[in-house]
Parts: sequence; C-alpha cells; structure tokens
Amino acid sequence: MAREAGKSAGKAKLPRAKAAKAKAIPVARAKARKPAAQPQAPAALSELESLRKALAEREARLLMLEAQSSMLEAKLQVMREVARTSSSDFSLPEMLELFMDVVLEATRTDAGSLLLVEEGGLRFTVVRGPKSDKLKGQLLPHDEGICGWVARTGEPALTENPQRDSRHSPRISRELGYDAHNILAVPLKGRAGVLGVLQLLNRQGGKPFSHDDMASLESLSVQISMVLENARLFESHQHEIKRLTSLTEASQVLNSTLDLKRLLKLVMELAARTLDAEASSILLKDKKSGDLVFEVATGEKQDVVSTIRVPVGEGIAGWVALNSQSLLVPDVSRDPRFFKQADEKTRFITRDILAVPMTVQGRLIGVAEVLNKRQGRFTLEDQKLLEALAHQSSIAIQNAGLYADLQESFLATVRSLAQAIDAKDSYTAGHAARVTSYTEAICREMGMAAELAGRMRLSALMHDVGKIGVPEAVLCKPGRLTDEEFAAMRRHPAIGAGILGPIEQLSDVIPGIRSHHERWDGRGYPEGLVGEAIPEAGRIIGVADSFDAMTSNRVYRPRLSDEVAIEELKKNSGSQFDPRAVEAFLAAYAKGAVKTEP
Ligand SMILES: [Fe+2]
Repeated sequence: MAREAGKSAGKAKLPRAKAAKAKAIPVARAKARKPAAQPQAPAALSELESLRKALAEREARLLMLEAQSSMLEAKLQVMREVARTSSSDFSLPEMLELFMDVVLEATRTDAGSLLLVEEGGLRFTVVRGPKSDKLKGQLLPHDEGICGWVARTGEPALTENPQRDSRHSPRISRELGYDAHNILAVPLKGRAGVLGVLQLLNRQGGKPFSHDDMASLESLSVQISMVLENARLFESHQHEIKRLTSLTEASQVLNSTLDLKRLLKLVMELAARTLDAEASSILLKDKKSGDLVFEVATGEKQDVVSTIRVPVGEGIAGWVALNSQSLLVPDVSRDPRFFKQADEKTRFITRDILAVPMTVQGRLIGVAEVLNKRQGRFTLEDQKLLEALAHQSSIAIQNAGLYADLQESFLATVRSLAQAIDAKDSYTAGHAARVTSYTEAICREMGMAAELAGRMRLSALMHDVGKIGVPEAVLCKPGRLTDEEFAAMRRHPAIGAGILGPIEQLSDVIPGIRSHHERWDGRGYPEGLVGEAIPEAGRIIGVADSFDAMTSNRVYRPRLSDEVAIEELKKNSGSQFDPRAVEAFLAAYAKGAVKTEP
C-alpha cells in the first residue's frame, strides 16, 4: 500500500513537478530574455550603421566610377577629334567648342571657358555659361585672375572659395553679374610653353571640384593641347605656303610690266587678299613736299583716299616713314598716332593697321599698309609677308624710276629735235606739240592702253623728224612747189624712219612716223598702203596732222576755221582718213578735248 501510496504519491508528484517546470520555463525564459535585451540593441544598430556605411561607400564608389567613366568617355571623344585634326575638314574653332561641351558634361559643370594665349593676353575663345556672348573674344591681361596665374605658372588651380583667393579677379564676375563659387583651371601646354587655359566654374549641385576632378581635367587637357599644337603647326604650314605663293605671284606681277601704278595696284590687291585685309595702300614720299601721297589704294574708298596727303611724322604711316620701322596697331582707337582725318574724309572705319616702310638703298621712298583684318588680328607673320612684298615693290619702283628718268631725258631730246624742225619753218611753229596733243585726245577717246598710247604720243611728236633732210628752200617756199620739190617733200616720212631706224628703243614708234601720210584709199605715200594695212599710229597721226595743217596759218593762206576743218575731215573720212580715227577725233573735239589757237 505504502508502495502504492508512494507510487501514487510519486506519480502524483511528477505531474506537479512537470507542471511546475512547465510553468517555470516561460518565467525562466522571460527572466533570461529580460536581462539580455539591453546589450543586443547597440549591436544591431552598429550592424545597421556598418551596412549604411558600406552602402554609402558603394554609392560613392559608384559615383566615382560613373565620373571616371564619363571622363573616359570624354577623353575618348576628345581623342577621336584629335585624330580628325589630320583630315581636311578640320576646323579648330569648331573642335574647341565641342571640347568645351564634352568637358562640361563630363564634369557636370555650369560654366567654363577656353582661353588662348596671344600677344598681350589671353583671348576668351570658347565661353559657356550665362552671358557668355559678352565674354567671348575679350582679351584678359596676362596678370589678371586665376587664368592669368595658370598661364604664367603653368600650374593648375583649384579654389573652393574664389572670393578669398588672392589670385581671383572679381572684375569679370561683376561685369557679367555671375558669381564664381568654385573654380578649376588647368593649363593647356605645348612644346614651347602654355598655349591656353581651360577653366571650369561652379560645379552643379553646389559640390566643389575635387583633386580627382583636377587630375582628370589635366589628363584631358593633354589631348586638347595636342590638338592646339597640331592646329598651330598646320596653320604655320598654311601660312608659309600662302607666303611663298604670294611672293611668287608678286614677283611675276612685278616683272610683267613697267606701268608702275598698275603693277603696284596688283601687288597691293595681292597683299590684301593674302593677309585677309579689307583694304591696302601704298603711300609714296612726294619729292617736293616730303608728304606721303597715296599712290595706290585698294578697297571701296580708293577714289577718295587718293586725294589725301599725310605729312611725315603724322599718323601711323607718317610714324613708319619717320622711323623707318614697321608698326602693327591692333586697335587704332587706342593709338594716339592714328591719323583720323583719313577716316573722316573717306568714312571708312579703320580698326587695325599694319604698316611697313619701303626703302631703296636705305632711303625711304614710301609706306605700304593693310587695314582691317577680316578675321582676328594682324600677326608678326603677316608683318613679315608685307615687308617682303614692300621690298619687292620698292625694287620695282626703283627700276621704274630709272626707266622714267631715262624716258624723260629721251623725251627732252626728242622735244628739242621736234622744236628744231619747227624752227626751220616759223609758220609751223608748235606743230609737233599740237599734233601730239590731238593724237593723245584721239587715243583717249579710243580707250587705248597706256603703253600703246605712249608709243603713239612719241610717234606724233617726231612724225616730221624727216623734214630735217628736206632743203630749207623747199620747206619754207611760200609759193607752189615744183614736182621735184614736191617729191623731195614727200620723202620726209621715209627719211624720218631712216634717221630713227638705228635706235632700237624706238623701233615701236617708227611705223607711225613712216606712215602718217598714207591714205585710207591707198593714194598716200610713201608706200600707198590701203586701209588697215596702214599702221594704226599712222592713221591716227594722219587725222591729227591734217587738222592742225588746216587750222594753222600758212604763208600762202590764212587758217581755216575749226568748223570748216571738221567738215573737211568728215568729207574725207573713208577716202583720205580712217573713219574710226575721224570718229574718235570728232568725239574728242565735241568734249572740248581738242583745243586750237584762234
Ligand atoms: Fe608730215
């Protein structure tokens, strides 16, 4: 029983204990959980924190990779363009514009500019951002702003607070009304030094530029510099080709003719074309007054220009003449030497001038100048080319001057010869001079080239030179000539041709002398030539000679009136005279170009 009881007691205990245990478990668990809840929360938080950090790091890395990728993409694009510089459709300005867009996009930047180094400063060549139009083309002095600093030192510049950076110049920001919050600028370096500066302003999202950005931009700038260097090389080759072509053309022109004015005009047209100038001119020193006088002017206002005189020492040309030194003035409005009267007279607006002296054996003879370069400014290369053209022109002027001197002394001899013949017969005094003047009027009316007209003039002046071989008794005989005397008289054209025949330089004027008594219908002398077989000079001088003979007093008759003489010319046009020559004479007479003595 006791066992039973014990058993049962034992049995009875078990479930209680179990129950107790069962009850105790949640308590114990509860007890165990409660004190453990405190240390577990920070662990979770730190776990969360490290997760967040990892995420942020990953995000930053992703951003960096993204930035690197867009930089690489930009670099690739720039390199593609670099490869294009060797192709024929290469245009540097277009390429630089494109580079700027690529860089701004890759760096997520609002504004930027690309400045190129030139004489006197840095030229804003490509500008992006608000009011960029105002800035484009401006010249930044070498010593101004961060860009000036970068160009001077060849070092990159990164500034998070430009206002506190002593290198920064607030002038441009103020002028544009656009503040710079952060700036990154890198030099564009070539073999010979800094070619330009690439500047970025205000990164999007307010985040300043980093050193990574600077490194990326520097690596990009190497490619851009390469393009600039290639372009400069290409440009200088092109310039050299242009220079040589131009000089060759000029020497061909200068050797082509001795009509000085035409020749100089051709050379200055060539200079304007080669140097891309709106106008060009040559001023020669006037021997008497010493002033500079426009000998040749090209461009729209050439007619007005030719009336202007510039005293030596005045104006840019005057300065060049006084100092015998070339002068390049990029902006005449800022140069007190500029001679404003020329612009006021011509209403031509001069912006820039390149003027060089013209000398012959160290003696100044004039000044050559080109005005208003159509694109950009005149360069030292341009100056060298103009100096070479001016030198060639000076030699041509010297040669032409020698020729003119020779011509003048020759003409003086011929004139005295003509006067000597006139003097043999007082009744024909001044005949040679008048026939020459009428011949000139006919030539002008016919629109004859200067060179040909010059030959006609000489022929006219000497047309009766052969009378030197006609006995004075025949020449001055007041009465009617005998057949024999008449035959002697008719020999004078051939005698004249014979006298001048040995002079090689006069071979061109002899036909006019020989044929001035031929007739259009073939009844003239000495050869009885017909129509156009008669040299033109002879046909023209024939008209001039006959008109003067009719309107001059003779021993055996008084002069005829102009009207009667003109009627005679008309009546004999087509028989004695060449109708074209008569027509030209009549037209010249109607214009008052033929003047007779009363
Ligand atoms: Fe004659």
